[in-house]
Amino acid sequence: MSTKSKLLELLESQKGTYLSGEELARQLQVSRAAVWKAVKTLRQEGYQIQAATNRGYALKQENDILSREAVRCFLEHQEAEVQVFQKISSTRRVMKQLAVEKQLPHGSLVAANSQTEGRGRKGRKFYSPESSGLYLSVLLYPKKTLRQSLEITAAAAVAVCRAVEGCCGVSLGIKWVNDLYLQEKKVCGILTEAVTDFETGEIEFAVVGIGLNLYEPKEGFPEEIRRKAGAILERGVRTDRNRLAACIVNELLKEAEKPGISPEYRQRNIVPGRQIKVFGNQECRVVKAEKILEDGRLLVTNGQGERELLDFADVSLEI
Ligand code: BTN
Repeated sequence: MSTKSKLLELLESQKGTYLSGEELARQLQVSRAAVWKAVKTLRQEGYQIQAATNRGYALKQENDILSREAVRCFLEHQEAEVQVFQKISSTRRVMKQLAVEKQLPHGSLVAANSQTEGRGRKGRKFYSPESSGLYLSVLLYPKKTLRQSLEITAAAAVAVCRAVEGCCGVSLGIKWVNDLYLQEKKVCGILTEAVTDFETGEIEFAVVGIGLNLYEPKEGFPEEIRRKAGAILERGVRTDRNRLAACIVNELLKEAEKPGISPEYRQRNIVPGRQIKVFGNQECRVVKAEKILEDGRLLVTNGQGERELLDFADVSLEI
């Protein structure tokens, strides 16, 4: 690891606290001049590092640059490989490629500040502008079959809710299957993709893609999603995206271990009891959502008063 990376790790782990040049040089086993050089490079990259005579250097609390070093400070599973990009095509694409090419550990993640080709369910675009959100993909070896893949999405939904509550103080609702809502607006989308063994039906690996709208983009959301999309925080309300990314992964690794769909997934769901639109291949129809079963399927009553069970349908709360 370079001196710059090690310095960033130290500053991020004690954000807001002054660390003396002497102490930093001792810990990094370099000269004080080398510490100063690394500080200068980090500042050029946008890090707000304060320097005070007799006190040393401190990374400002409001600094919110996504970095591998900072995410790792909060990650419980230290074996995981972490890659962070300021701009990338899509974290899911890169993670899937890495998963095929390298044997990365369970819980490895790719995170980005912006994506140029973010995708959601059914190949839909996922708007991923810079400095507004958090976009990440996590690699799992889930010991589940394809039939149980809904459990992974449910685990991710619960994990994000808990992490957002812990890091941002905001409580989100889950819209079956894979969206998170705040006050009737979608603020997060989750996409689980898996590679399975055809013969056994076992999942070889899964990539869980999570896109969070933390703030409304400066130019507003694009016309086509403006009515539906929302943000978790008001601009100006600070958060630490590095901590949030790590907390999501920490919670996801715990949740994905558990068998079945957690009761929290069902409790947090905002769909039961509402009239919803269900989109099929060609048509769309309105049904009443009754409840989410223990296996995660949604029980609905159709227009003819008949009960139906939905597995993976695309549903809308707007009818
Ligand atoms: C959806 O709303 O249908 C799911 C959206 C999933 C978006 C995330 S952002 C990180 C990862 N990279 C992608 O291209 N998609 C997922």
